[in-house]
Order: sequence, then structure tokens, then C-alpha cells
Amino acid sequence: MTETALSLAGVRPRPRPSILGIDPYVPGKGAPPGAVKVFKLSANETPLGASPCAKQALRDYASHLHDYPDGTAAALREALATRHGLDPEKIVCGNGSDEILHLLASAYIGPGDEAIFTEHGFLVYKIAILAAGGTPIVAPETDLRADVSAILAKVSRRTKMVFLANPNNPTGTYLPASEIARLAQNLPGHVLLVLDAAYAEYVTRPDYSAGVELVERSENVVMTRTFSKIYGLAGIRLGWCYAPRDVCDALNRIRGPFNTNGAAAAVGIAALQDTAHLAKAVAHNETWLPWLTKEISALGIRVTPSAGNFLLLHFAGKAQATEADLFLTRRGLILRAVSAYGLPQCLRLTVGTEEANRRVVSALTDFAAHESPARA
Ligand SMILES: Cc1ncc(COP(=O)(O)O)c(C=O)c1O
Repeated sequence: MTETALSLAGVRPRPRPSILGIDPYVPGKGAPPGAVKVFKLSANETPLGASPCAKQALRDYASHLHDYPDGTAAALREALATRHGLDPEKIVCGNGSDEILHLLASAYIGPGDEAIFTEHGFLVYKIAILAAGGTPIVAPETDLRADVSAILAKVSRRTKMVFLANPNNPTGTYLPASEIARLAQNLPGHVLLVLDAAYAEYVTRPDYSAGVELVERSENVVMTRTFSKIYGLAGIRLGWCYAPRDVCDALNRIRGPFNTNGAAAAVGIAALQDTAHLAKAVAHNETWLPWLTKEISALGIRVTPSAGNFLLLHFAGKAQATEADLFLTRRGLILRAVSAYGLPQCLRLTVGTEEANRRVVSALTDFAAHESPARA
């Protein structure tokens, strides 16, 4: 060992200070040990599972495991372009939309820069901003809904990006296309607006848009999408974005050369072709989201109206929410505590199978019988 190396003994590599300021993302919890029958309703996964075509594509892919995939994911981008009527050159795919969010942050945000997200916005935004060395700026929401004026009021010379989930997780609220357009129109040209449309396929409201037309007509709007939710492919990790060419160029420079794995691409293409499976998932949600909303509200538990495949339930306070969580968990019903989103009095419930949904209502009925949940 040289003298210098000796004098440095005990000194360890240290990440940038902002990295240590990140609270790691905690995923929705899974099955508790020993539970009889468990329904995981904590991660907004589809109760219908993946399309049979996607499962077959995965089996077929086994004979290609030794091959590097196409690093440009050209076939998948073509399939997405055909399905959604897009320009394939303006699509970048990745290892879940989480990766795309991180790539966007690391390409456009650096130390001294600010990026905005809303009060109860998806937690990955803050992580991605801090990981890039930027400063997270929180815009207040109004009635658990993003507020365009409040976002615009937070824009400064240092703002580089605005992240907005539409619909938002965990609130389930959404902004109509007119409000999103107002946001886009009023942002300075150097600020990139990231519209995270992870739940877009579930939204059936006529005034909703995932943001394609805004991407088409601006230089500073990106739409991100995922195969994790309605397509039931959370385990294989596949997401994508539709973005102006310059943004795609930046992302393509920094992404890993094979960031979309071959199995994910093959499975994604098959899933896109199974439109009947997609329609079934939409119909299931259309039946059970309103049913759960009505039944749970009738118990005196306030439910935020949701445009996604999940509901935010409001209890009297943190203690009661924790009690309800334990009560449901003991019955094999796993919901998501959302204290990390600034909502300690709430639990998030993913729409499940008919059996799961009925069990949730029955368990909450029993819970409400000896509690006094928050009344709206
Ligand atoms: C709003 C939102 N954006 C993005 C994601 C990430 O999805 P993916 O599995 O594609 O990384 C989620 C997942 O929970 C989400 O709720």
C-alpha cells in the first residue's frame, strides 16, 4: 500500500449528499405470514392478471434468453405507435415508467435546479429529483386535486421540470384536458412538463386526455405510460414515454444500451394486441370502482372519487387508519398505508377481484360496527 493509500485507510466512498436525503420508496406490502387467503390490494395491480397472449409470448421468449435484445426496442415502439397513432421516433421505452421518470430527471435536472410536483403526488418524483441533485418543490393541492394555479405560482427561474400524475396516485383525482392545457400554455419554454399517465387506460371521463396532443404540439411536454397497471405486467418492468424528438435524443444518450429487456418487449407487444383483455379490464373496473365507492361511503367512510383503479379511504385519524389496516390485514386484505404521501388518516385500496371487493366491504362493515369512521 502506498503512503497516501495508508493515510486514507478507513475513508470510504460517499454518495452525493442529496442521495442520503432520499427516503427509499417503500412498495405496497405483500402477504403477511400465516394468512389463510390473501388479497394484495396495495399496489394497484390488476386483478385480471396479464393477457394469455402475453404469457405465451414470455414462454416463447425462453429460446432467446441468450441473445442481446434490440437496444432500440424498435418492434415495441412500432407496436405502440400503431396502437396509439403515434410517431415511433418519439417513443422511448424503459424498465418501467419509474426508469423513464429517473432518466428525465437526470437528463434535465442538476444541482441548483428546482422541479415541482404536487402535495400528494407520486413519491418517485421526489426521489428522482433528489437523485439528480435537484431541489424538490411541492405545490399545494386543493381538495386532494392538483391545482394548476398553485403549480404555476411555484415556477421560478430555477424550475426545470414539473411532474404531474394524471390521474394521481394515491388520491385518484384527475385534471381535465383543459386544465392540463392551461398548465402547458403557461409554463416557460425551458420547463419540461412530465404528464405521468400510468392509469390512463382506466379513465373513461370524456374531458380526460393522457396528453398525446400536447406532446405533438409542444417542445416541452412528455407523456409517460406503463404496462404495470391495466396490462398486468408489473413484474416484467416495462414503461415508455412519448416526447419531443430533442427529449428522446437526450434520453437515448443516457439510458442503458439495453434498458428495455427482450422478454419485456416481446410480452408488451403481445399484450398490446390483446385488445379484448384490455376491454375486460376496463369493464371490470367500471363495475367495481363505483360499487366499492358506494358501498364503502355508505358505511360512513369517506371515499375520494377516483378516476383510476384504486380508492383513497378516509378514517377519523392516523390511529383509526392503522387499526383498520391491521383489522383488514388479519382477514387477508392488504391495503396501502399512505402516510408517506402526507395522508396518515387514509388507506389506499386497489380494485380487486369480485371476491376481494366483497370481502373488503364485509370487513369494513364489521370494522365500522365497532368503530366510528370519519364522516364526510
Ligand atoms: C402515478 C404512477 N406513475 C408511475 C408508476 C410506476 O410504474 P412502473 O411500474 O411503470 O414503474 C406508478 C406505480 O405505482 C404510479 O402510480
